[in-house]
Amino acid sequence: MAQLHVLDHPLIQHKLAILRSKDTSVKEFRELVGEIAGLMCYEATRNLPLQEVEVETPITIAKCRMLAGKKLAIVPVLRAGLGMVDSMVALIPSAKIGHIGLYRDPETHKPVEYYCKLPEDIESRQVYVVDPMLATGGSAVAAINFLKQRGCKNIIMMNIIGCPEGVAAVQEAHPDVEIYVAAMDEKLNEHAYIVPGLGDAGDRIFGTK
Ligand code: PRP
Ligand code: URA
Repeated sequence: MAQLHVLDHPLIQHKLAILRSKDTSVKEFRELVGEIAGLMCYEATRNLPLQEVEVETPITIAKCRMLAGKKLAIVPVLRAGLGMVDSMVALIPSAKIGHIGLYRDPETHKPVEYYCKLPEDIESRQVYVVDPMLATGGSAVAAINFLKQRGCKNIIMMNIIGCPEGVAAVQEAHPDVEIYVAAMDEKLNEHAYIVPGLGDAGDRIFGTK
C-alpha cells in the first residue's frame, strides 16, 4: 500500500485554519488554496530524482544537483482543483497541465464525467492529481482511472483536506498511488461533505454561492 502523508508543517496548518473559516472571503480563500498547494507541492516533490551537474560560478566550478529530467504533469480535477495549479506551475514551470472534469451528482454523490484533456505524452510523466477535497473518494478514483487508462504509472494524489472514507476508497482502488493531504478530517456527513471540512471548495474558490 502506498503511503498516506499528512503534512503538518506549521505554515500549512496556519493557512488551513484561516481557509476553513466561514468568514474567509472568496479572494482570501482563493489565495490561501494557492499558497497551501505551493507548500504541499514542495513536500510532494521531495523524492524527485536529482543528477550531479557542474556549474561555473564567478569564483570556481561548483558541483551541484539539478532535477534529473523526470517530466512532470499537473492534473487538476475541475473545478476546484484549478485553484491549486498556478502556485505549483510557479514552482515547476516545465510541467504540462491536463484537465479532468468531474462533478458529484447531488443525490447519488457519485462522480459524473464531463471533460478529459491530457498532455499527449502523459503516460511517461510523473503525474500530480490535485483537488482540494477528498470526500467519498469517488472523484479521485475516477480521475486516477482516466490516467491509468491512458497508461500513466506514476501518479501522486494531492488534496488539501481528506477523510478516512476517501483515503480508504483511493487506497483500495489504487494501492500504488501516494496521497498527500494537509489534514485528515473526522468523517463525512449525510450529504457526503467532509466534517469539519470547509464547505464546498469549488463554490468558495469561484464565489458561485
Ligand atoms: C468536489 C471536490 C472534489 C469532489 C470530492 O467537487 O472538488 O472533486 O467534490 O468529492 P468525492 O471525494 O466525494 O468525489 P464537486 O463535485 O463539488 O465539483 P466542483 O469542483 O465542480 O464544484
Ligand atoms: N466537495 C467539497 O467541495 N466539499 C466537501 O466537503 C465534499 C466534497
